[in-house]
This record gives sequence, structure tokens and C-alpha cells, in this order.
Amino acid sequence: MPIVFRGLAMLVSGLVLVSCTQLGLNYASLETSNKREATPQITANTVEEWEQEAERLRGVFADYVYGPWPEGLAVSFGKTRIADPDYLGGRGILEETPITLGEGPGARTFHLAVAYPKDLKGKSAPVVISQNFSNNCPVFQSTELTRPDGRQCTEDDVEFTGFAGWAIKTIFGEYIAKAPIEQYFDRGIVYANFFASEIVPDNTSAAEIVMSGLRQEPGIESNSALAYWSYGFSAAIDFFETDSRTDPNRVAAWGHSRHGKSVLLAGAWDKRISLLISHQSGFGGAALNRSRKGERIDRVAGGYPHWFSPRLQEFKDEPAELPFDQHQLVALSAPRPLFLGNGRRDVWSDPNSTYRAAEAADRIWELYGSEGLDQDGLQGFNPAADLSFQLRKGGHGVTLVDVEDFMRFLDAHWGE
Ligand code: GCU
Repeated sequence: MPIVFRGLAMLVSGLVLVSCTQLGLNYASLETSNKREATPQITANTVEEWEQEAERLRGVFADYVYGPWPEGLAVSFGKTRIADPDYLGGRGILEETPITLGEGPGARTFHLAVAYPKDLKGKSAPVVISQNFSNNCPVFQSTELTRPDGRQCTEDDVEFTGFAGWAIKTIFGEYIAKAPIEQYFDRGIVYANFFASEIVPDNTSAAEIVMSGLRQEPGIESNSALAYWSYGFSAAIDFFETDSRTDPNRVAAWGHSRHGKSVLLAGAWDKRISLLISHQSGFGGAALNRSRKGERIDRVAGGYPHWFSPRLQEFKDEPAELPFDQHQLVALSAPRPLFLGNGRRDVWSDPNSTYRAAEAADRIWELYGSEGLDQDGLQGFNPAADLSFQLRKGGHGVTLVDVEDFMRFLDAHWGE
């Protein structure tokens, strides 16, 4: 074949392969023994050694990937409003509180919506705090909440209708926006959500403007959307500390995809999070920076620069030169229960390197006396394990199967 045709054929097959991965037409490999282990190895031998190392690693992740944590960024609460006293046919109460980050002209306010089951019988309940792509209207399926623009949610905001709505749900799953609140209520769990873009918009130029406003706050140098989004979990926990209906020892953070990245970052910094569900977090989350499968670190850093510290751009094409890898971020959740969700066809998020990251981080769960990862390969989901790797059929999104697996994990760790 003439060289020019060969080049063209290679280009076309390259493009087809990349699109197949993006579109979920490839399968993640289940084999890990023929792939590189995560490096550098975690070597701590005692909890004390690890805790020192953890401190250093938080600094490393701040230096290279997420920028500084917005430690000390002021958090204040507006007035809580009962949005629906008979939420879900009377099963619960839906409330909404504006939370403000910062005090100066660049301060940002977001809405924390919280669904409380009614039958708490005076006991303090566990709470799942979720961060979402969409605002609270579709998440809670309620027109009683407030949209990001300050107006009341409408029916159109609640339901993803028409062809676009059908396509979103078909591609990304029934639960991509809507939360399975009945199932949380069945377990006596309080469910809270906030829309990450109310904190920092998910758009490179708008995010930069908002983040420079937040950097006017005293002592705040954070320069990535992920750091501020993750801080939203901490602000929500500050709020729940004022609310005797919830149990401060059972606080979970939940997030899918980019928000699965936030969950890991929030867990690394905020020890008040006692359980983590990081679903399909991919690159910049639990997938290994050195892996060349799927999206890869260079593509996520290039495509979504505002998610990360600008420093990552210097290294994105040379991941081998990064003096760390994401298994060390995963390990910063230990020994708390951590669910890492994956889809077999979601090669873009790279389930295989995520599993290797979990294998390498497992040592830290064990140091704390937990069994940690306790499954035989990518398909051996064990919801009772403290480090639990789920791999379901299908691609990127949040499906009924995922919801069932989240509940199995919660039941195993928080069940009576
Ligand atoms: C893009 C991005 C991923 C991210 C995902 C999501 O696909 O490439 O890194 O996780 O969006 O948030 O859905």
C-alpha cells in the first residue's frame, strides 16, 4: 500500500478507535497481570508513617493537580426554607438552604437541597451528600426548589423531556440527574444535593472569572474548579453540623464522573466524610495518570483546563515524570469505606487502571486493620468490603444497576 494511503488508513483507524472508546463501544480489559502496577509504590509500614506521608501527598496533589485546598474559605448559611412539607407523597420534608462561600464581592452562593425522611423517630440519621451536573430541580423531581437563576423550578426543569431528554437518559442512564430518593428514605437516609456549577461554572472562561473572584478572599489561592466543587461537600457538612437530625458519624459524599473526582479530593482533605461513593471518576480521579488507555490525563487536562491547577498542563504530556499517581489519592480515603464504580464499556474512564490503583492503595486500608479490597478481579464486586470496586455492564452513566449497587454498599456499611 503506498505510504500516503497507509498513513491515511492509520489516521482513520486511530480516529475510529478513539471514538469507539468515547462512545462506549470497546470493552475494558479484565486482565491486570499483564499491565504495569501503579507506581510509585506506597511503602508506609505503620499508620504513623502513613499519616506523615498522607500530609506530604496532599501537598503533592495540591502542587501538581488540583491546586491548594480552599482551607478557611468562609462558609455562611442563609435561612432554611421548607420547600415541600409533604415531599414524596408525605414520606419526607424537602428543605433548601442557600450557602455562601466567601464574604467579599467574589463570594458565591449555592443551594443545598435536603430531603429528610419523616419517620426518624428522634434518631439522628445518616446523610448522603451528592454533587451533580444538574441543578436540584430534576435531582429531587420537585418544582418547589430554586433554580440557579433564583427563579422557581418549573415542570420543564424537573423532567428531561423530548428527544434530548430521551437521548440523555438512554445514553447516561435513568439516574444521571434524578436521585433515587425513595430508596434512601427506605433506609432512613437523608439525601442532600448541590449543583457544582453554582459554586464555579463548568466552563473554562466563566470558571476563571469566578475563581479569581474567590481568590480575593483572604488566604485563598485555589485555582481549580475541582478544589472549589470539593469544598462544597465540606461546606455542606458544616451545615449539617448545625442540624441535629443528621448523624455526624455517618456522612457520605457521592459523585459521578467529574463529581466522582471531587469526591476523592474532598475525602482526601475532609475527614468528616465517613463513606465515599466515587462513580466512574476516570482520569483526574481514580484512573492512573500513567495509563495510556481511554481518555488519558493529557486529554482531560487539555479538554477541561479549569478543572485542574494550571501546573498540570506542564506535565500532562509526560505523565511518567509526575512524581506520584492517582492510587495515592485513592489511599487518602483509607480506611473509610470507598466505592469505586465502573462500567465495562466505559473504557474512557479506564476501569482497568482504576482497579490497579485500588490494588496499590489497598495496603493502607490493611495498615489500619481493614481488609480493604477483598475481591477476585474487576468483576468480583464485594459491597461489604471497605474498598469496593464495582464493574457493571454498559457505559458511562448512572443506571438502575448502579443504584442497586450503591444501596448494597450502603446497607453493608450502614445497615443495622
Ligand atoms: C468527560 C471527561 C471525563 C469526565 C466526564 C464526566 O467525558 O472527559 O474526564 O469524567 O466528562 O464528567 O462525565
